[in-house]
Amino acid sequence: MLKDVIDLLADPNDGTALAGKDDFSRLVSESGHSFDVARQGYVTLAGGAGLKHNGDSLEMVQARETYLSLGHFAPFVEAVTNSMIEIVDEADLSDAAQPALLEVGAGTGFYLAHTLDSIDNSRGIGLDISVHAAKHLAKCHSRAGAVVADVWDRLPVRSGSIDAISVVFAPRNPAEFQRVLAPKGQVVVLTPQAGHLDELREPLGIVGVETGKVERMYEQAAGFLEQSAAPVELSFPMELDRASIAAQVGMSPSARHISQEELARRMAELPETMRVTARARLDRFRAVSK
Ligand SMILES: C[S@@+](CC[C@H](N)C(=O)[O-])C[C@H]1O[C@@H](n2cnc3c(N)ncnc32)[C@H](O)[C@@H]1O
Repeated sequence: MLKDVIDLLADPNDGTALAGKDDFSRLVSESGHSFDVARQGYVTLAGGAGLKHNGDSLEMVQARETYLSLGHFAPFVEAVTNSMIEIVDEADLSDAAQPALLEVGAGTGFYLAHTLDSIDNSRGIGLDISVHAAKHLAKCHSRAGAVVADVWDRLPVRSGSIDAISVVFAPRNPAEFQRVLAPKGQVVVLTPQAGHLDELREPLGIVGVETGKVERMYEQAAGFLEQSAAPVELSFPMELDRASIAAQVGMSPSARHISQEELARRMAELPETMRVTARARLDRFRAVSK
């Protein structure tokens, strides 16, 4: 709940601390700005200009929830959580500490909830620009606080407050990650790799992973974040039935360039089940000291 992470949150306009008011129906900053908490439990923390786009649609969020809950990405979920556990262990926090986690572009909160379950006393902000995702995030775990915000803006998070950040197939803001990380904090990033879902690409006409994605991530990070552990390549087969394939296609924009009718026609021609490769790479960063 937002209560669990209130000391980590900040006014998106000026970075001042927030406090819950009127039984946490709104958050008010030291500088007097007020942000209503939606009845579903999430809060939108956007500065004056508001949010510039909507992120994932309701249909995409529902498809993601279906796909993840079938366990097809379990090795990814385990790998991210294990990395987050290592980071918190390496931070060597006091026994009384409540490790502070942040997941950016957190979607339904499936990964965040798994990590919160695996780290005693931890609490976590699930941040996403999609209101539909935030509704899921708000109920993904009792120690998760759901925030609607744009990762490209100033993050509504207190400087130096976060022990571990995770980013799974979502955008990153290295300068802001550097600012919000605690001194021993680190970032885990999972990015899809060439070969990810390859078996679906040709029959369904979905777009491949662009080349140079990892190189660009390191270029963007330069001066703000530096590598803190050797990258790990993850690759595993998934047995997907048609319903799972439909959920996989529905949760990403990669098939949006062909019409729904054409997609349905191509889906109907697929075998009942397919063996499909999942492939991604896990990178770890710490803040470059200022
Ligand atoms: C591919 S999904 C990944 C979701 C989740 N990490 C997972 O793997 O299940 C990308 C997510 O990033 C969110 N997103 C896209 N642009 C964003 C932005 N500028 N700021 C915050 N979230 C954003 C989308 O709404 C979506 O939930």
